[in-house]
Amino acid sequence: AEQGWPELERIPHPPRRIPLLGDLLGASRHTPLQDTLRYAWQLGPIFRRKAFHREFVFVWGHSLAADLADESRFAKHVGLGIANLRPVVGDALFTAYNHEPNWQTAHDVLAPGFSREAMAAYHPMMLDVAARLTGHWDRELAAGRTVDVPGDMTKLTLETIARTGFGHDFGSFERDRLHPFVTAMVGTLTYAQRLNSVPTPALLRRAGRRNDADIAYLHRTVDDLVRARAGGGGDGGGQGDLLDRMLDTVHPGTGERLSAENVRRQVITFLVAGHETTSGALSFALHYLARHPEIAARARAEVDRVWGDADVPGYKQVAKLRYVRRVLDEALRLWPTAPAFAREAREDTVLAGEHPMRRGAWALVLTAMLHRDPEVWGPDADRFDPDRFEAPAVRARAAHTYKPFGTGARACIGRQFALHEATLVLALLLRRYDLRPDPAYRLRVTERLTLMPEGLRLGLERRTTPR
Ligand code: HEM
Repeated sequence: AEQGWPELERIPHPPRRIPLLGDLLGASRHTPLQDTLRYAWQLGPIFRRKAFHREFVFVWGHSLAADLADESRFAKHVGLGIANLRPVVGDALFTAYNHEPNWQTAHDVLAPGFSREAMAAYHPMMLDVAARLTGHWDRELAAGRTVDVPGDMTKLTLETIARTGFGHDFGSFERDRLHPFVTAMVGTLTYAQRLNSVPTPALLRRAGRRNDADIAYLHRTVDDLVRARAGGGGDGGGQGDLLDRMLDTVHPGTGERLSAENVRRQVITFLVAGHETTSGALSFALHYLARHPEIAARARAEVDRVWGDADVPGYKQVAKLRYVRRVLDEALRLWPTAPAFAREAREDTVLAGEHPMRRGAWALVLTAMLHRDPEVWGPDADRFDPDRFEAPAVRARAAHTYKPFGTGARACIGRQFALHEATLVLALLLRRYDLRPDPAYRLRVTERLTLMPEGLRLGLERRTTPR
């Protein structure tokens, strides 16, 4: 970054710097984000940290973040953890460089897969997967056990994206151990993150070999899936799921089609991007609901009112759950499960009128801190309060202060998908169970590329009244 910031010395950094290691000493390899958040409080709305020979600029103040959201001057930067994923998913949507033509092609081909009509078609499949979760939770409850919230939410969201996207069933709820695909996926994500904590990949040679094997396994699995579809099935539930679209759609403007290699990369991307983040969002929301019975009661009253006697909700009844949705919004404010995104200058410019940047210079927006900026969220920014997302409060807030799904052209394509799925599942769980927190549990957050409440278990009681 240093080359791109002519006045870098004006940006604060931690007081003690060590040759070579930079600011790494005292940093925990396992919680780099939370470590950076502690520096953020000390150093203010823009600061830098050095790791080995590299200098990184972090931004979280709301006016700086709003300026970085200006699409005419800034764009997504593919660097750090994201660039490390390129050996696995190359120029697929999430990891494509802005100039790569496959980004626009894939974006145009896949955007209709997230339209309202497409979502309505996924809705019954989401209900099916949710029923497998409640089946599992009913059995745990009958056996007198508490439930593993992040573990079960990850099974749920993986099955949901696999089913709706690719007509595939990993059987997550029916097996004791993680599906090998999940193990391989987590392996590559962890490896990508570890690459940031060493000066050269050569130090991770053994892990690197395991990573190669993981990637090969991911590729084989996806190729089988694609071959099965191409060789017959081909109906995607009759609705045109994501895989059908990838295989069949000819781009209306260019007449191009996604190559077999690119389809493989997109499938892996969707399986990864489509489940970890949503799983974390659901897990944090359940944590807060269990801790705040009055909020849970309000959410449940809304579910009962909107759904009436229906056993399962229709597609439209999910969008009407405004308060449940606000619970989710607030969980994603405090713990945006994709906790940062990177922005680069399209041309030489001056950030917020103060910090000159050369073309290509970049900064990480720390969403998790932006979402707690006291100038925006008040002195009680750490408090869980879904009412912050009531319409008048949202209208009163400055733009670009809430960014759990990123910003601009490269923002999350799966946003509506995630929100529909998570709102639906929270509502189903509130309707069916009383959540009993473990009083001894203190929220600890683990970091892979995404955030997750570590070791969160909840007790359940089957709700008897009014239904
Ligand atoms: C991009 C967050 C769910 C697919 C992003 C970005 C963020 C994000 C912050 C932008 C990253 C950047 O600027 O570098 C989330 C969160 C989710 C979620 C918090 C759940 C609560 C999903 C789901 C899918 C998905 C369910 C797919 C079904 C993608 C893809 C991109 C993306 C493909 C890349 C878009 C592009 O560059 O064109 N997501 N996401 N995400 N997300 Fe999500």
